[in-house]
Amino acid sequence: SFDHVVRAPEDPILGVTVAYNKDQSPVKLNLGVGAYRTEEGKPLVLNVVRQAEHSLVNDKARVKEYLPIVGLAEFNKLSAKLIFGSDSSAIQDNRVVTVQCLSGTGSLRVGGEFLAKHYHERTIYIPAPTWGNHPKVFTLAGLSVKTYRYYDPSTRGLDFQGLLEDLNSTPSGAIILFHACAHNPTGVDPTLEQWGQIRQLIRSRGLLPFFDSAYQGFASGSLDADAQSVRMFASDGGECVVAQSYAKNMGLYGERVGALSIVCKTADVAGRVESQVKLVIRPMYSNPPIHGASIVAAILKDRDLYNEWTIELKAMADRIISMRYQLFEALQARGTPGDWSHIIKQIGMFTFTGLNTEQVAFMTKEYHIYMTSDGRISMAGLSSRTVPHLADAIHAAVTK
Ligand code: LMR
Repeated sequence: SFDHVVRAPEDPILGVTVAYNKDQSPVKLNLGVGAYRTEEGKPLVLNVVRQAEHSLVNDKARVKEYLPIVGLAEFNKLSAKLIFGSDSSAIQDNRVVTVQCLSGTGSLRVGGEFLAKHYHERTIYIPAPTWGNHPKVFTLAGLSVKTYRYYDPSTRGLDFQGLLEDLNSTPSGAIILFHACAHNPTGVDPTLEQWGQIRQLIRSRGLLPFFDSAYQGFASGSLDADAQSVRMFASDGGECVVAQSYAKNMGLYGERVGALSIVCKTADVAGRVESQVKLVIRPMYSNPPIHGASIVAAILKDRDLYNEWTIELKAMADRIISMRYQLFEALQARGTPGDWSHIIKQIGMFTFTGLNTEQVAFMTKEYHIYMTSDGRISMAGLSSRTVPHLADAIHAAVTK
C-alpha cells in the first residue's frame, strides 16, 4: 500500500509560484522563479519565436515522426556553434558530441549519468551556493556531490581565494561545475582574468569542467560575451562538458529545449562517447520532443530571424539591467540603511539581496512579495510599476 507515503515539501523555487498563485491580494508580486516578464508583468513570447512557429505550422511537409535518440541533427549542430563559436577548432576537428536534451536540467542529468557510468572520478564539486536543483540532479545521476567556496557574504562578491584553494585540494580528475555566466542565485561571476586563472588550475590538475549555460545572451545582452568562459576551455584542446538551455534566452521555458555537449580529445573518442550517451537517453525518455528544437533551429539558421533574436534578447537583458538601477535608486531615495550597490553590480536575472529568511517571510506576509527564502529576487519579474512596492517592502524589512 501507499499508506506510509509522507507529504514532501514543495520545491524551494517552483513552490514559490504555488504559494503566489494561492494569494488573492491585488498587489501580489512573484519574484521567485527566474522567468521573464514584460513591463506590464506579462510572460513574453518572442516575436522571432512566433514567426518561426508560424512557418513550421504552415509547412505541410513537416511530420510528427520520432526524432533520433540524440534529437534534431540540425539543432545540435547549430547549438554547438552558438555556444562554442562559429570558428571553434573543437567543432572543426569533430571532437564535439552534441545531443538535444530536455532544457538545462535534462542536459545536466544526462551529462551526469554519462559521467557516473563512464568517467573515472565520480565526485562533482558545485559552487556554494548554487541553483537548488544542482545537488539533486547530480546525486540522482549517480555522482557524489561536494561544494567549493564561491560567494563571500561579507563582500557580496566572489571568494576567489577560497575558490582557488578548494579547487586545488580536490582529487585529481574531479568534475567541477561552473555557471557559464550570470551565476544563479548570486549574480556574481569571475572576471575574464579570473576565468583564465581558473582554467590554468583546472588543466594543470586534470580536473573536468562542466558548464551550466542557462543564460547565454541574458547576462550582458551579447551571445558571444556570455560564452567567453566556455570558449576559453573548449578551445584549449582539453575536455569539457556543457549543458545549454533555451528557456531564458529564447523564452522557450515550457518547450523544454536544451543541449548537452561533450568536448572530447579526438573525433574517434567523440564517436564512442555519443554511442554511450544514447544508451543513457533511450531508457530515460527514448528521444526528445520535436517542436521546440525545430523553433530554435529555424531561428539559428536564418540570418534575419537570428539578427532579430539578438535584438529581442538585448532588449530583455537591458530591461533587467534598468530594473537594477531603478530598484537601487528607489532604496537610495528611501534612505534604506545598508550598502545596496550589489544590486547594480550583480549580473543576470537575479539579485542576491542579502535579506535573511525572516525578512523574506515578512515581505511575503505583509507585502505579498514572493521570492526564494535565501533572499534571491528575480529582477526579470520586476517592472517600473512594481519597483516602489518592492523598495517599500525591503525598507520595512530592514528597518523593522
Ligand atoms: C530558477 O532558478 O528560478 C530557474 O532556473 C527556474 C527553475 O527551474 O528553478
